[in-house]
Amino acid sequence: MIIAIDGPAASGKGTLARRLAAHLGLKHLDTGLLYRAVAAELLNRGLPLDDEATAAEVASGLDTGALDRDMLSAHEVGEAASKVAVMPAVRAALLKLQRDFAATGAVLDGRDIGTVICPDADVKLFVTASAQVRARRRTDELAARGKAADFDAILADLVKRDARDAGRAVAPLKQTADAHLLDTSEMDIETAFRKAVDIIDSI
Ligand code: C5P
Repeated sequence: MIIAIDGPAASGKGTLARRLAAHLGLKHLDTGLLYRAVAAELLNRGLPLDDEATAAEVASGLDTGALDRDMLSAHEVGEAASKVAVMPAVRAALLKLQRDFAATGAVLDGRDIGTVICPDADVKLFVTASAQVRARRRTDELAARGKAADFDAILADLVKRDARDAGRAVAPLKQTADAHLLDTSEMDIETAFRKAVDIIDSI
């Protein structure tokens, strides 16, 4: 079984994907980590974020066994990731890896799983929430980890990142006609999880 979960930043899709994978006994891939890893390596090596050939080379050589979730979760890395994610050569370099991962059954979450990576997924979920709610969650998450977080700055960044992710020419974030919409603005993770399980069970 392949479950494709797409949605904007801080919508709760990652937490939901992990819970569903554990519940269903499937592997899970947070595909945002791949774009984050490419961006982090460019930043660490002092390389430009807008040079497509260099970014694609980094993407091709990515060691997926060594992804440091904690380091990659930094807010600035997410911003940089959405800049490298607009480049077709970067996306092409990461395509096979994601399809191979999905081949034996998995839960994948990202922006283009239902549209490009796994268009034939058994279940597609589009997880979203209002920008205000997402910014609040992200601010609280950072604060809980002892990191300084300014709500207004985070909200502005999220809105900018949404526009970049949904407005790009290649693999933009969008809900497909066959995806089930889960708006988590007024839901806790437990409720969202139960709704997702109901959707999966009904298929
Ligand atoms: O989901 P996360 O915030 O970790 O993703 C970071 C960035 O990576 C996103 O803003 C998006 O630009 C990019 N991304 C993507 N396609 C995916 C997953 C992430 O373009 N499947």
